[in-house]
Amino acid sequence: MSSAKPSQSAPGIATPLLAWYDRHARVLPWRISPSDREVGVVADPYRVWLSEIMLQQTTVQAVKPYFDFFVERWPTVEDLAAAGTEDVMKAWAGLGYYSRARNLKKCADAVARDHGGRFPDSEEGLRALPGIGPYTAAAIAAIAFDRPAAVVDGNIERVFTRLFEIATPLPSAKTEIRAVVAEATPAARPGDFAQALMDLGATICTPKRPACALCPINEMCQARQSGRQEQFPVKLPKKAKPVRLGAAFVAERDDGAVLLVKRPDKGLLGGMTGVPTTNWTVRADGETGAKSAPFAAEWRSKGVISHVFTHFELRLEVFHAAVTLPPDHDGWWSDGDSLPGEALPTVMKKALSAAFPALFKKGKR
Ligand code: ADE
Repeated sequence: MSSAKPSQSAPGIATPLLAWYDRHARVLPWRISPSDREVGVVADPYRVWLSEIMLQQTTVQAVKPYFDFFVERWPTVEDLAAAGTEDVMKAWAGLGYYSRARNLKKCADAVARDHGGRFPDSEEGLRALPGIGPYTAAAIAAIAFDRPAAVVDGNIERVFTRLFEIATPLPSAKTEIRAVVAEATPAARPGDFAQALMDLGATICTPKRPACALCPINEMCQARQSGRQEQFPVKLPKKAKPVRLGAAFVAERDDGAVLLVKRPDKGLLGGMTGVPTTNWTVRADGETGAKSAPFAAEWRSKGVISHVFTHFELRLEVFHAAVTLPPDHDGWWSDGDSLPGEALPTVMKKALSAAFPALFKKGKR
């Protein structure tokens, strides 16, 4: 396979790509459409920032209802800065990667306090804020402020490794890809250019069976010419995820309320709400059974739920007990009315659903 030949045709993709975007841009709640932009509508940096933080590691479909809820409840960065951290965590519950929510709040505080409520308009200024790394700074600089920043997310990596048959495996290829993206980024409409590449990757240059016949830059694509589109990007083989084990305890009071606790602030799911669990261990003979319950009761197994985190898979055996005399234990009792508003991460919703199958219906925020 050949390596990247960036200088040949990279600048040539902007014109056909932007013309395609003008006709086919996805309608997204944080986006200014090309036609609105043409008549002078400008992006709101707060909405761009919020969407980019939410979209890290999460799909557009999953983000939309959360985004709508946040901007309805906290329309400006000052409103978010004035909100309580607990309320923000509750609103974020279910989106995953909870350190993002904590940094979101810290960032809103910093913008309101140190920048008079205005986001910095350069990559460098943005990177100095909590929770904003190189990708997010480039995306906000381009989309909100039309800076010619090189924006490289997973979709854009796929487009460019195909365009130039970049055979270096990811993640090592990132520097090489960034260089070709930087070269291809036009001085005019760099924000639309980045979003056009995202849309192209999401709708046409897909991982499997890309729709090359519909692609506005197919004539410049080396992988299409050699028929090897699906071989790019090259990735190092994934390591199998280790499994951790534990037990979760759903204690139910006579009136149907369940015992919830706040997890310690540090660590995975830090500060989020859940039912009491044991530690999560790699040992099958560790604290994985009813003997490790937080208090004595008639614990009955309701099965094992599994949840995949970035670095491991967690399997929790879920125990349920009816509790007549509320035990003396940290936490609070939450009933059917208050449960949906609790800051419950998905793994905790799965544990509660094992005990009460009808509790959380799929597809809701
Ligand atoms: N993924 C990450 N950022 C995005 C954006 N601004 N639009 C669409 N998909 C995205």
